[in-house]
Amino acid sequence: MIGKLYYIILKFIRSSKIITLLIWGIKIDKFLHNTFWDLTTLVLKKELNDTRHKKKYLDMGCGQFALLGQFFKKANTVSDVTSVDIYEKFVENSLKNSELNKTNIQIKKSNLFSNIDEKFDLISFNPPYVPSSQKKDELEFPNIRYSDHKGLKTTHDFLTESKNYLMTDGEILLGINTFYVSQALCIKLISETGYKVEKITKMKFNTSIVFRLKSFRY
Ligand SMILES: C[S@@+](CC[C@H](N)C(=O)[O-])C[C@H]1O[C@@H](n2cnc3c(N)ncnc32)[C@H](O)[C@@H]1O
Repeated sequence: MIGKLYYIILKFIRSSKIITLLIWGIKIDKFLHNTFWDLTTLVLKKELNDTRHKKKYLDMGCGQFALLGQFFKKANTVSDVTSVDIYEKFVENSLKNSELNKTNIQIKKSNLFSNIDEKFDLISFNPPYVPSSQKKDELEFPNIRYSDHKGLKTTHDFLTESKNYLMTDGEILLGINTFYVSQALCIKLISETGYKVEKITKMKFNTSIVFRLKSFRY
């Protein structure tokens, strides 16, 4: 009962333009689906608040508004921010939204790093991590939620490719909802793909966590 109520309230607040403005300081006009942010986006926001002195930030899988990219740019006006997504429609909507909010960031289409040719000192990703074995619905944009049988294929590919796009001492913020994928499974993948966990960030009443990672290569 309490779980169901929590879910209904959450569903309402993460689809609200006013609450999004209050939490993120970002105005929303047009949208393509009614999840404006999720529990993982909130933990990433908390961690981005503690992140300063990054010159180049890549917001991987920016979604329909590039919320994280815009949020970071507002707090770090001298940083260069690039936001990318696999869906053209998300890129178009994010560009319009960034114009509305007057945040000067680059936004483009890219399948992970397919359209990236530079290095960053910070990359964040809230990847699709719901195992496709748990698929209950047919979504117009399935890559916002589902990734293979166990939920970690996109994260695996992201971590494997990221090393080539990180500056020396660059960091990754990876957010995962442990309701779908266990922390232990994430840590195994992180270590197998050549990263060490610098910090784990959590929030009360939130099953998502953010791993701050550095590559073993340095
Ligand atoms: C869980 S949503 C996160 C959206 C937003 N960043 C947030 O935190 O609220 C995952 C995002 O990653 C994007 N995505 C999934 N696979 C991708 C890929 N291979 N390359 C780029 N973006 C991808 C999806 O389209 C979606 O916008």
